[in-house]
Amino acid sequence: MTRVTQVIILGASGDLTARKLIPALAGLALDQELKGRLQVVGVARRPQTSSLWRDEITATIEPAYQEGWSKLAPHVEYVEASATDARSLKNLRVTLNELAQQEGELAEDVGRLYYLALKPALFADTVAALDEAGLLEEVPGRGWRRVLCEKPFGTDRDTAKSLNTALGKYLREDQTYRIDHYLGKETVQNILAWRFHNAILEPLWNRNHIESVEITACETVGMEGGRGGYYDTSGAVRDMLQNHLLQLLALVAMEPPTSMDSKDIRDEKVKVLRALKVPSAQEVGASVVRAQYSAGDGHPGYLEEEGVATDSDTESFFALKTYLPNWRWEGVPFYIRTGKRMHRRYLEVVLRFRTPPVKYGNSKRELKPNSIRMLIQPEQGIRLNMLVKRPGPKMKMSEATLGFDYSSLRAGSGVPAYQRLLRDALEGQQALFMREDEVDAAWAFVDGLRAAWEGADLPMHTYAAGSTGPTAQDHLWEGVPGGWTNGEESE
Ligand code: BG6
Repeated sequence: MTRVTQVIILGASGDLTARKLIPALAGLALDQELKGRLQVVGVARRPQTSSLWRDEITATIEPAYQEGWSKLAPHVEYVEASATDARSLKNLRVTLNELAQQEGELAEDVGRLYYLALKPALFADTVAALDEAGLLEEVPGRGWRRVLCEKPFGTDRDTAKSLNTALGKYLREDQTYRIDHYLGKETVQNILAWRFHNAILEPLWNRNHIESVEITACETVGMEGGRGGYYDTSGAVRDMLQNHLLQLLALVAMEPPTSMDSKDIRDEKVKVLRALKVPSAQEVGASVVRAQYSAGDGHPGYLEEEGVATDSDTESFFALKTYLPNWRWEGVPFYIRTGKRMHRRYLEVVLRFRTPPVKYGNSKRELKPNSIRMLIQPEQGIRLNMLVKRPGPKMKMSEATLGFDYSSLRAGSGVPAYQRLLRDALEGQQALFMREDEVDAAWAFVDGLRAAWEGADLPMHTYAAGSTGPTAQDHLWEGVPGGWTNGEESE
């Protein structure tokens, strides 16, 4: 790492900066390796002074981040500029160079991370303006220049491709960091770590032993915080599947990487994304359920939400059954679902195993399958469900759960996702960021899925706000043992 590291937030007056980025940077200000080396510059069009910006943050930052913030605050500046205008970014260049000098450092020797906390429509012009203002210039072997893009990265495959091409004019892939904050969650990273550091798992982790895989991400939030306008142009599939849930799927289904290096991990993930089977218009009715919430539990229905069109065709819920026709997973259904305004907030991955052919006389006993549940949030841990003999004269079985909880580790569940990801970007670690070909493969699947349901005129179901989702989702399990899980306490 270079001695001084500068993080430049373009879009500093936005909600993301206050909610996630400043707390994450405050956390990093306490990090042993970064301590005293981190400088932060917020850029936005709003007229404001650095001291007013710092005061505003001091007044609103959560107590948990106050200690870090007090260390960081003296190294925080604000620059009034338009991110897409090279001329106005000249001020930024002056400020960054002055800050470097204060630490006795030459501008070309500092590391600079530009965080695009902006509307995605502004990404390409912003990078072009940074380049024109000379802010992306690197002197080989000296300080680095990197750009971190917030999601969504495109709205379909074509827009993502154009964006990649536009960024590629000014940035190499190793300077480009496409964020998916799910990859910053400890429990998500643990999927990879756990799978490939435990010898007992790999022999079982395939179609010979696993009957089905489920990834469920239920949320209780609806369109709070004025999100209706954005969400209605996106919907659950583009908002959650294209990025977070397909990333989870890739981690669960990928082959062991040659090494734990960024390139090897991302090479394996992209193979999974490319192998996903897009249903045809004829198949989509049996593999996808879309729905919107109706009023319930004191909440308005999706169509009554502010910013949502009253005749909107955007889904706030989807459930999908899909396949990965490769050597490891051929024939194993992968169930994926997510929804807003559901009964409970939880995210888990469940692997159900095939049952052994236990017979009593001539009759086969129906057994509850063994399952592995990886609890991602809010519960964080792993459960292994097995059968044990119930005490007594008969061979009756009871379900026993072996469990691990992150809270039992001294380090708990670790640092917040944004903090982890920012640190990786500062260190030049790209494993937890999406590579260009991963984004492309994920969009190819999502576009194919959407084209199929449009071709099939898939019905829009409803579910009451606060419920477990539309009843139609259950038909995806026809012919497959099991059904959707409903969160930690229910099984
Ligand atoms: C965001 C989506 O990327 O992730 C939101 O845009 C969603 O709609 C959020 O609510 C979920 O993140 P988390 O970390 O709360 O699971």
